[in-house]
Amino acid sequence: MASATSAHLFFLFFFLFTLIVLPLRAVGQNDGNVEVGASLSATTTTNSSWLSPSGDFAFGFRNLYDSHHLFLLSIWYAKIPDTIVWYAGNDGVLAPEGSKLVLTPNSGLVINDPQGNVLWLSPKSAGLVSHGFLNDTGNFVIKDDQNGVLWQSFDHPRDTLLPTQIMETDGVVSSRVSEANFTRGRFQLRLLEDGNFVLNTWSLVTDFSYATAYWMTGTNDPNNSTNSGYRVIYNEFGNMFVLRRNGIKFDLLPDSIVPAKDYYHRATLNFDGVLAWYYHPRNVTGGNNSGWSIIKSVPDNICLRITGEVDSGACGYNNICEIGDDQRPSCKCPPGFSLLDPNDKYGSCKPNFKQNSCEEEGNGGYRLEQLTNTDWPTSDYDQLVNFNAEQCKNSCLNDCFCAVAVFRLDTSTCWKKKLPLSNGRKDSTVTATAFLKVTDISTDDDNPEGPVPPNPDPKSNRKRLNYLVSVLLGTSVFMNITLFAGIGLGIFYFCNRQLSHARGGKVNGENNVRHFSYKELQEATNGFKEELGRGAFGVVYKGMVGSTPDVRRFVAVKKIDCVSSKEADREFKTEVNVIGQTHHKNLVRLIGFCEEEEQRLLVYEFMSNGSLAGFLFGEFKPSWVERVRIAQGVARGLFYLHEECITPIIHCDIKPQNILLDEYHNARISDFGLAKLLMLNQSQTQTVIRGTKGYVAPEWFRNNPVTAKVDVYSYGVLLLEIVCCRRNISAEMMKGEEGAILTDLAADCYQSRTLDALLHDDAEALADLPRLERFVMVALWCVQEDPTMRPTMRRVTQMLEGVVEVAIPPYSTNSCISITA
Ligand SMILES: *[C@@H]1O[C@H](CO)[C@@H](O)[C@H](O)[C@H]1NC(C)=O
Ligand SMILES: *[C@@H]1O[C@H](CO)[C@@H](O)[C@H](O)[C@H]1NC(C)=O
Ligand SMILES: *[C@@H]1O[C@H](CO)[C@@H](O)[C@H](O)[C@H]1NC(C)=O
Ligand SMILES: *[C@@H]1O[C@H](CO)[C@@H](O)[C@H](O)[C@H]1NC(C)=O
Ligand SMILES: *[C@@H]1O[C@H](CO)[C@@H](O)[C@H](O)[C@H]1NC(C)=O
Ligand SMILES: *[C@@H]1O[C@H](CO)[C@@H](O)[C@H](O)[C@H]1NC(C)=O
Ligand SMILES: *[C@@H]1O[C@H](CO)[C@@H](O)[C@H](O)[C@H]1NC(C)=O
Repeated sequence: MASATSAHLFFLFFFLFTLIVLPLRAVGQNDGNVEVGASLSATTTTNSSWLSPSGDFAFGFRNLYDSHHLFLLSIWYAKIPDTIVWYAGNDGVLAPEGSKLVLTPNSGLVINDPQGNVLWLSPKSAGLVSHGFLNDTGNFVIKDDQNGVLWQSFDHPRDTLLPTQIMETDGVVSSRVSEANFTRGRFQLRLLEDGNFVLNTWSLVTDFSYATAYWMTGTNDPNNSTNSGYRVIYNEFGNMFVLRRNGIKFDLLPDSIVPAKDYYHRATLNFDGVLAWYYHPRNVTGGNNSGWSIIKSVPDNICLRITGEVDSGACGYNNICEIGDDQRPSCKCPPGFSLLDPNDKYGSCKPNFKQNSCEEEGNGGYRLEQLTNTDWPTSDYDQLVNFNAEQCKNSCLNDCFCAVAVFRLDTSTCWKKKLPLSNGRKDSTVTATAFLKVTDISTDDDNPEGPVPPNPDPKSNRKRLNYLVSVLLGTSVFMNITLFAGIGLGIFYFCNRQLSHARGGKVNGENNVRHFSYKELQEATNGFKEELGRGAFGVVYKGMVGSTPDVRRFVAVKKIDCVSSKEADREFKTEVNVIGQTHHKNLVRLIGFCEEEEQRLLVYEFMSNGSLAGFLFGEFKPSWVERVRIAQGVARGLFYLHEECITPIIHCDIKPQNILLDEYHNARISDFGLAKLLMLNQSQTQTVIRGTKGYVAPEWFRNNPVTAKVDVYSYGVLLLEIVCCRRNISAEMMKGEEGAILTDLAADCYQSRTLDALLHDDAEALADLPRLERFVMVALWCVQEDPTMRPTMRRVTQMLEGVVEVAIPPYSTNSCISITA
């Protein structure tokens, strides 16, 4: 109670004090001088600061953005928001509200908290203070009566250097922990004793600088010290150079093309370890305020440059660093890992799963996540030469010490590594592929889907499914087929116009689909620069949306080529609404759309692992476990589209190119809901064959009604491709050469009980023969000529998961090649 009252009294006193003192000081402020006894207080009610003569710089307390009650004594650009160039204390002394800064005659600047404790003082050389002065260069100077310098902020740089500032040997500039946390971070810029000007990482715990620099000027000469540097000068023209003892300059910047009289300059060691030289127009009253621009930044790619043996790298342990176009790094935990501190994206990652223990037998349900162009160059414990990728993977899977195996194709070498992993990087120049050992077994053994958010749909339906299954199991195969045909007819929906009327009624804004302007998307995609792919509907571009770093994310922007007509316009809106209402973990999510004059664009979430086609038919054969997961994922996604979403959707073009993989390698169906748009575009009356050669159901050619069973057919083909890791129709056959169509081959192999001929040396799959056989049987049911014979996707998911028996598929010789035993 008593202290609260005294605090009130203190504030009252303080308020009166500032009322009287402030106007007086405002007069004396124009020359930049600060009298002994002058003070500033840390309060939210007034912004009091001392300005330099030109008004370019201000010195005083800054209220930190994340807290209303903590203040930082700092120097900043008075005409530009939020660019702090200096702060009190190596780690940024945080002053509570009510703290006070005084220029004292004996101790220089002193910050006292409201209780009168000294929080910080400017250590000054002996002598009595005459006055302080904030120079137009951004330097706060304490002078004696001989005009000698007792203390100056330029001698105690934090993370920023300004023109006219000089760094002597042993000088240090330290990064912050983050943009908003002024504690010293992990990076340092130093002028070493031997004259080398370097960037290095630094141990926060022991105050020990790690020896390996990740950038250096090389201005040291061990043979002849007259050649070595001894001072770094940032001159008034905005040029920075290392001065050698022999008087020769080593320039750090190109000859200045940015005149210092028109632009502010600064060099800042950013919190992510990148040193950048910036400029900003001085005249901010004109409409030319585009913020800070970069003249140069070093190193060119920090992700690749930091390689110390005993440090975590540019990002924290187990994290993966990737450089952006702006040469700034971003960090992302690998699949199966998450941030140790969720607020620190640049920090370390921890595994979400139970560690492989050498106690247990076998490989205990672990699988390998394939990360292309990714490497952790340190943390090795074994090197295996003359290995191929398969051997490398197996070696890691069967080794309880192995956390990741990195395979280098160029040298046929397999490196096995242990946790924690350091210096993780992903870059197109990295020629290694990492196989990261993960498992879905964490706290919840019941969740086979791994580290993905649980999806309520399948669980809530399980009881219903079980009931249905028990009914079905009790009836004959024939009955089942008839029943399913009935259900299939019951939910008879078309990829044609009739449905759109039904949909029209349900259209409303009950989804989170955002409307973008064309200009926004143009900017987001950098003028439609980076093409991700081309499909029947148009070209897809990579882009980035979001105004702040925490909401910023990559997107895929699909530019649809469709003619504009009244009909098509209405369709577009309807479809966007329908697609926007689909929410399933195996579908690519629609984020937004754009409809402007001729332009129709759809904005989807970006899938970092590309298409299933690349995954299946690429350089490495994905593991059986992964393929099983993907096959089941696609089936669930299709089941949802057909039966569970508010408006049923027939995809009409299921193929590996339209299945994308997210960061956890979950299968995500894309391009659904678009079939109608394209058909409208082509013809109103005639049903044009949609889909892709090798995947289309026969009824497309027969003018029969098109039902959801067309997707089932395509899924059957896809399932075989997933099982066998080969295309239904090979590239050679496309060119007219001989070769068996996969669906026929599978029917043949199944019939003759020679499934191993279908899978070349796939020991993993053959070891799981019952499941393999089941999958092939399901696929053969799906590709039946007669649509009514094909199961529904609901039935397919059940059969794949093994909750219902799979009947022996009928052996019909398909139209193309007849098979002889
Ligand atoms: C103090 O300055 C900040 C940032 O310049 C501004 O947002 C705030 O409104 C100012 N407060 C007062 C009381 O002038
Ligand atoms: C301000 O700094 C400049 C550059 O260091 C120096 O030339 C000038 O004398 C300083 N002004 C005062 C009043 O100290
Ligand atoms: C700033 O970072 C340091 C070190 O990571 C941490 O101890 C401190 O709590 C952080 N300060 C704030 C205000 O978040
Ligand atoms: C220093 O001398 C050694 C041997 O005399 C030579 O190999 C080396 O290149 C020299 N270093 C420089 C920077 O000149
Ligand atoms: C060192 O280098 C300078 C030129 O930078 C040269 O004049 C001098 O002779 C050299 N000294 C020795 C000992 O080699
Ligand atoms: C700043 O720019 C504006 C518009 O470009 C111009 O009108 C004004 O005169 C400039 N001020 C100075 C001090 O140059
Ligand atoms: C705006 O800045 C650019 C360069 O930064 C300059 O070329 C242009 O003349 C400036 N415009 C105005 C109105 O000051």
